[in-house]
Amino acid sequence: MIPSPKSIVVLTGAGISAESGIKTFRAADGLWENHPIDDVATPEGFERNPSLVYEFYNQRRRQLLSDQVKPNAAHSHLAKFEHEFPGQFLLVTQNVDNLHERAGSQNLVHMHGELLKMRCLNSQLVFDIAKDFDFDTHCRCCRSPGNLRPHIVWFGEMPFQMNKINQALENCDVFVAIGTSGNVYPASGFYQTAKIRRAHTTELNLERTGSGFDECIIGSASDIVPTYFEKLLNAC
Ligand code: APR
Repeated sequence: MIPSPKSIVVLTGAGISAESGIKTFRAADGLWENHPIDDVATPEGFERNPSLVYEFYNQRRRQLLSDQVKPNAAHSHLAKFEHEFPGQFLLVTQNVDNLHERAGSQNLVHMHGELLKMRCLNSQLVFDIAKDFDFDTHCRCCRSPGNLRPHIVWFGEMPFQMNKINQALENCDVFVAIGTSGNVYPASGFYQTAKIRRAHTTELNLERTGSGFDECIIGSASDIVPTYFEKLLNAC
């Protein structure tokens, strides 16, 4: 832990939401909620079988909005830290749920999109959506069906706000990755970008991912995130 950090970037992955009741992606069977990832998380999968893809994200959205899913201690301590930390703070999440914002996080980038948004394929306008939608749903801008897709970054597509993320990584002195397997580019390379300016890099995860962080703390997010960020605040 470095004394008096001035700028911090935190990256979160599915592991931070696991204790909130949302499954992680890379279970041993390689399936995501019983589907091959190629079928539900690629533009080709959407072209092949749009009904399956609409229904897949409708189910995820219904689950997210159910009473069982709520932010856990890791989400709320990150939000508390952001409010109390006197320096610059950016939270980048690969998660498409809304648990960070429900916990009170503010400077937040959803680099892989959001379940509670849909996008028009013609205008690229983005709309909030809390209900199911599919091929028959009329778009709010073109007023015709068939133009709306989930506002999710699929494999082979460019993540959102990469300029903002890279700028923050290049200027931070602390980088922390929480609950991510480090399997998906470009997020898997963020710790290396942070190291260009000699940031201290820490991984908080249920298991060691085998990458080159300066420090690795093993445990469940709801245990280790509150402790780690309290210590970091005391060091400021
Ligand atoms: N606390 C901390 N870490 C946990 C917990 C927990 N309670 N439960 C699981 N983990 C860890 C796992 O050990 C694993 O290393 O979280 C990690 C989750 O890894 P993935 O399922 O691969 O999720 P993530 O890294 O977020 O995936 C990245 O891949 O499928 C795409 O776009 C999707 O955003 C996703 C991206």
